[in-house]
Amino acid sequence: MIITLAGGGSTFTPGIVKSIALRKDELEVDEIRLYDINEERQRKIGVLVDWILHQDLGLDITLTVTTDPVVAFTDADFIFAQMRVGGYAMREQDEKIPLRHGCVGQETCGCGGLAYGMRTIFPMVELIDTVERYAKPTYWILNYSNPAAIVSEACRRLRPNARIINICDMPIAIIDVVAAALGVKKQDIAYDYFGLNHFGWFTSIEVNGHEALPELRAYIKEHEILMPEAFLKDKAALIKSAASTEQQADGDQPEQNRHTKGSWYYVWKGVYEIMELFPEYLPNTYLNYYLQQKEFVEHSDPTHTRANEVEETRERNLFDGIDRYERTGEIDESVFYAGSHGDWIADLAIALKNDTKARFLVITQNRGALPNMPYDAMVEVPAYIGKKGPEVIAQDPIPLFQQGLMMQQLNSEKLLVEGAIEGSYEKVLQAFALNKTVPSIKVAKEILDDMIEANKDFWPELK
Ligand code: NAD
Ligand code: G6P
Ligand code: MN
Repeated sequence: MIITLAGGGSTFTPGIVKSIALRKDELEVDEIRLYDINEERQRKIGVLVDWILHQDLGLDITLTVTTDPVVAFTDADFIFAQMRVGGYAMREQDEKIPLRHGCVGQETCGCGGLAYGMRTIFPMVELIDTVERYAKPTYWILNYSNPAAIVSEACRRLRPNARIINICDMPIAIIDVVAAALGVKKQDIAYDYFGLNHFGWFTSIEVNGHEALPELRAYIKEHEILMPEAFLKDKAALIKSAASTEQQADGDQPEQNRHTKGSWYYVWKGVYEIMELFPEYLPNTYLNYYLQQKEFVEHSDPTHTRANEVEETRERNLFDGIDRYERTGEIDESVFYAGSHGDWIADLAIALKNDTKARFLVITQNRGALPNMPYDAMVEVPAYIGKKGPEVIAQDPIPLFQQGLMMQQLNSEKLLVEGAIEGSYEKVLQAFALNKTVPSIKVAKEILDDMIEANKDFWPELK
């Protein structure tokens, strides 16, 4: 059993490897391979992964670290993909360019997400083709690479037979938070959900068979935010900046954390704000960018966005920690995050491999699951997962408000993919103009033209 991580230099790789390693018996894993196009980044993460597998856990799983796709994918069973095409430098552009035009600047939502999608479509197709060529015929690609909504639509259009499932960790991260708010174990929670990726709603949250949405609504109303202290307590690697850790050691500065101080604070606050007006369902945090776009722009700093925050925290902590390990031989495990993100992808691989038919929320073709959404829409819905992939579960028609929002977003994403395939400036402009984060076609054109300039090393040519 060979599992290859594509984008092995990702900040999430150590946590995912830990999740795989802790499930080694169910996965029967013999070898983990890390593959990246950035050799130095890959080497450093490889040093930490080697420590996790061989020193920390003392396992006899073989580790291969490579930038050669043939070495990476030959006879691989699972490919866990997590590439960031263009890196944090381009994420920064995705966030800052729309903000300069008064629009939401976010890596996966609005114009930033569309721009990131244009960069990622063809590298993802290339990955699929390479995997098809070298991996086992029964391979599965489990893809985290964002923007997952656009990536999944592009894969459906361009490589419809590829064995790829696109996933997102946000709904399960929300369930972690909900569990902490309700004071229950997340394993005891079962939920219903519908939406597109980064664009959906929980319609039910059951705890041991009892509907807990009323209690959760009351909790959110009382606290005016969905972010319990109980959730924050063990998230040091994700939330503390290296600088603030040093300051804290000196005793002068309180700890900074992304959920209470950084840009994530507003999305957890936004859950409360959305539910004050529309209390029926629990919204995905990402809906804030579409439902409170004006307010998001008002509280954003166009010179310092989430990309900068990540560079100053998660990325810096991790690579500084690895440098320190290489210098001193000492390791501080809190430099990397292990938890739901890696557990989710590893558990999904177990369901596929062992044909368990366990229920997972995945991004998959609708096929009638949401009767008033198109048959071919890539939706995010619960599905049973077995060796043949996802089997979607039928739901009732969704309400008009949500359906209208989803159709607008879906068509924006579909136009982007069609525009990329056809090299059509007009279709891509329609994608930008249709997006709910954009107030006029003139603004759409201004942002698109700036994006074309910023992405000239990455985007296909548009005519
Ligand atoms: P990162 O920049 O730290 O890691 C991404 C890695 O991908 C880098 O090492 C980069 O060199 C590599 N890469 C870029 N293009 C590549 C290519 N063509 N082939 C192979 N490797 C390539 O980014 P990160 O913050 O760790 O995030 C990684 C990815 O996972 C991003 O796409 C991010 O959006 C995504 N992500 C998705 C979810 C989800 O819910 N779906 C959750 C977390 C992260
Ligand atoms: C959530 C989303 C991911 C996204 C990530 C960004 O986990 O589900 O799709 O990549 O947030 O987090 P960051 O810390 O990089 O802003
Ligand atoms: Mn996601």
